[in-house]
Amino acid sequence: MNTYCRLLRRSSTRYLLHRSNSNSQHSTQFPGFRGHFGTSRPLEQLLGDPKRTLSTVFPPLREHIGSGLTSACNVAGHTHRLPCRFFGSAPIVMQRNPKFSTINADDITKFKEILGEKNVVQDEERLLAANTDWMRKYKGSSTLVLQPRTTEEVSWILKYCNSRCLAVVPQGGNTGLVGGSVPVFDEVIITMGSMKNIISFDKVSGILVCEAGCILENLVSFLDSQGFVMPLDLGAKGSCQIGGNVSTNAGGLRFLRYGSLHGNVLGLEAVLANGTVLDMLGTLRKDNTGYDLKHLFIGSEGSLGIISKVSILVPPKLSSVNLAFLACKDYVSCQNLLLEAKRKLGEILSAFEFLDSDSMDLVLNHLEGVRNPLPPSMHNFYVLIETTGSDQSYDKEKLEAFLLRSMEGGLISDGVLAQDINQAFSFWRIREGVPEALMKAGAVYKYDLSLPVEKMYDLVEAMRIRLGPAAKVVGYGHLGDGNLHLNISLPEYDDTVLGLVEPFVYEWTSKYRGSISAEHGLGLMKANKIHYSKSPECVDLMVSIKKLLDPNGILNPYKVLPSSLTS
Ligand code: FAD
Ligand code: MLT
Ligand code: ZN
Repeated sequence: MNTYCRLLRRSSTRYLLHRSNSNSQHSTQFPGFRGHFGTSRPLEQLLGDPKRTLSTVFPPLREHIGSGLTSACNVAGHTHRLPCRFFGSAPIVMQRNPKFSTINADDITKFKEILGEKNVVQDEERLLAANTDWMRKYKGSSTLVLQPRTTEEVSWILKYCNSRCLAVVPQGGNTGLVGGSVPVFDEVIITMGSMKNIISFDKVSGILVCEAGCILENLVSFLDSQGFVMPLDLGAKGSCQIGGNVSTNAGGLRFLRYGSLHGNVLGLEAVLANGTVLDMLGTLRKDNTGYDLKHLFIGSEGSLGIISKVSILVPPKLSSVNLAFLACKDYVSCQNLLLEAKRKLGEILSAFEFLDSDSMDLVLNHLEGVRNPLPPSMHNFYVLIETTGSDQSYDKEKLEAFLLRSMEGGLISDGVLAQDINQAFSFWRIREGVPEALMKAGAVYKYDLSLPVEKMYDLVEAMRIRLGPAAKVVGYGHLGDGNLHLNISLPEYDDTVLGLVEPFVYEWTSKYRGSISAEHGLGLMKANKIHYSKSPECVDLMVSIKKLLDPNGILNPYKVLPSSLTS
C-alpha cells in the first residue's frame, strides 16, 4: 500500500498515447517514475515487446485460412444440404433457396464488360479467402467475387443481379464473427475494398466523408494527422472497413465515451437491391425532415442495401491519455470500480474493459510476447481503465487519486499505470488479444451479450457449473457498456457441449431482458434466434421492411432474419 501511495505521489510524468497507430508521432517522454504500484518490480522488466506492430494485434486474414475446411459443394442443383457444418450454432440443415439463379458464362461476360477483367475474381485462392470467415467456422461456395470501384458500379451490379435473381453477399474486411460476411451457398460476393477514398474532411465541424471500403485503421491514421480520432476502435481495425463497421453497428473499445454509430454517423449513401442509389449522405448534426432512413442501414448487416459512402462525426484528439491495468479480487469489485470510475473520473473516463483470469491465461499461453503486467500471481479479474482529456497534470492527478482511493477501499488489489506508448500497447494487446488467443486455443463457441452489469458474470459461472471441466468458459468484454463476451473454448467442436450451451445461453439472456447480440450482429449464427431479443411484432415489421427494400431477397440471404419468414 505504501509503495503504491509513494509512487503515485512521486509521479509527475505523463504520456500521450494514440493507441490505434503504433507509428504515431506522439511524444512519449517519461522521467524516472515507475508507474507500477502494488509490487516492487520495475514496470520495464514486466512488459512485452516494444516493437510490436498492428499485424501482431490482428494478423492478416490469410494467416487464419487454414486447411481442414470442407470443400466447396457443387451447386448445380437447387436444393442442397449445407456443404459444411456451422460450428457456431446448433447443427442445422439449410436448403439453398431454389428461387436464386446460378451464375452462367453470360453473367461473367457482362460483369467483365462493366467492371473490367481484374475486378471479376475467379481465382481459387482468393475465392477461398472470401468464402471463409475470420473464425474459419463458416464457409460458402461462391465461385465469383466482384470488386466495384464506384457507387455506379455497385448500382449496376445490384440491378443486374436483381434482374437475374442472383443472390449476393456484401463483404467488407471479413472480420465479422457471426457468419454474416461469407456466402452460405453460391452467393456472389461483392467486396468493397476498392472503394477506399477519403472524400472530404471538414476540420471545423469534425466531419469525415469517405467511401465504405476504407479500412478503419487507415481512417485512424488520416485523422491522427489532422488532430482528430475515430469515435470507434476495435481489435480488428487493421482489416475491418468503415462500411462493415456501420453495417454491423460495431461497438468496440470507445463506445463508453463516444457512443453508438447511430449517434456518430451523420449520413450514408446506400444502394438498394434494385440498384437505386439512396443519397442520405448528409453532413448535418441536426436534420428532422421526415424519417431518418440511414438508421435502417446501420446494423442491418448487408440485408437491406450496400453502404457505399459514410459521413461520420469525429472528435478532436485530446492531448492526455492515461491507461491503468488493474486487478480485482472478485466481480463485485469490478462492478463497484465501474460505478466509482463513472462518478469520480466523470468526463475523462474513455474505456472500462474487463477480462477474467481464464481469458488472461489464454492470452499468456497463446500469444507470443505477451507478459503478465501484474506478476507473480494470477488475479481473478483484470480491468483496463483509460482516461482521455485535455489537461495532463489534472487528468493524471485525478486518475491517480481515484486509483489510490480504490486501492485503499479494497476495490483494486494490484495495478500498473502505463508510462509510455509501448506499455499502453502491451496492456491493450492483452485485452484485444483475447479473440485471437481463443482461436489459437482450438474450437470456440462465441456469445456476445448485453446484460444488466450486476447479472453479467452470473452467466459465466452458471455456464461453468453446467459444462464442468470439459470446457474452458471465459468472460471478457466491455463492462462499461454492459456487454459480456462469453466464450466457450474446447480442443474440438463438440455437439454434446453445444447442446448444453444452447438454448440455455439465449434463454438465460432473454430472462433478464438482455440482448443476444450486443455488437456482433445476428448474421447466420443467430438469424433464427432473433425472437429471444425481439417481439414477434417487431420481427414482423422487420420482415416487411426487408421485403419492401429487397423484394427478391437477393441481399445477404439466410442472414439476420429467419429464412422461414423472408423467403
Ligand atoms: P464484414 O465482416 O466484411 O461484414 C460484416 C457484415 O456487414 C456482413 O453481414 C456483411 O454482409 C456486411 N457488410 C460489410 N460491408 C458492407 C457494406 N459496405 N454495405 C453493406 N453491408 C456490408 N465487433 C465489435 O462490434 N466490437 C469489437 O470490439 C470487435 N472486435 C473484434 C475483434 C476481432 C479480433 C475481430 C476478428 C472482430 C471483432 N469485431 C468486433 C467484429 C467485426 O470486426 C465487426 O463486426 C466489424 O464491424 C466488421 O467489419 P468488416 O468490414 O470486417 O465487415
Ligand atoms: C472484443 O471485444 O474483443 C470483440 O468483440 C471480439 C470478441 O468478442 O471476441
Ligand atoms: Zn467486443
